[in-house]
Amino acid sequence: MRSGVFMERLPAKRTANNNYKTGAEMQILILYYSKTNNTRKLAAEIAKGVEATGATAILKDTAEVCRDDFRAAAGVIAGSPVYFGVMAAQLKKVFDDMVGLRREMENKVGAAFATGNHHSGGKETTMLSILQCMMIYGMIIVGDPIAASGHYGVACCKEPDESASADGFKLGERVAKLCAKLAE
Ligand SMILES: Cc1cc2nc3c(=O)[nH]c(=O)nc-3n(C[C@H](O)[C@H](O)[C@H](O)COP(=O)(O)O)c2cc1C
Repeated sequence: MRSGVFMERLPAKRTANNNYKTGAEMQILILYYSKTNNTRKLAAEIAKGVEATGATAILKDTAEVCRDDFRAAAGVIAGSPVYFGVMAAQLKKVFDDMVGLRREMENKVGAAFATGNHHSGGKETTMLSILQCMMIYGMIIVGDPIAASGHYGVACCKEPDESASADGFKLGERVAKLCAKLAE
């Protein structure tokens, strides 16, 4: 029991520009394209980090995602395989198709992840291509926490190993915690 002054929490306020739900009601959309499952596996690790904070992770691939997933999310963590140094066309198409939601996405949190084949094959430029779209959506973009790498997001070659999985967890946790802070 808390001593001292009783602090009543006012009901969360919601505006068109953000989703101020907290706890399990707060949704983080983890959106990905994956043809051979490497990116899907990294997405699943990120979801674990989101859920560890008490928020709800909505894991959707580019074929499943809908406008309401964007609307309901307090944050979006989007990932792609490296295709010629940028995101796959399937993920870009989602950003293209959702353009009408830009105003509603403003001030929501955005972050990126990627998997590639070669260690210098373009994972960072791929994450930057995703973050560029998010910036133009007016989102507040973040990289991975310093406890992971403190750079542009989480990335790995092929499927995530133990280290990439741990970094994915930290990215999910960071985004969910930041969304909770913004909801205060
Ligand atoms: C069309 C195409 C282009 C690719 N371009 C690159 C590339 O530029 N650099 C790289 O490191 N890997 C490249 N790859 C490999 C994929 O990024 C890599 O295998 C990735 O982990 C696949 O993710 P997924 O299993 O989620 O589909 C390419 C693969 C395809 C099919």
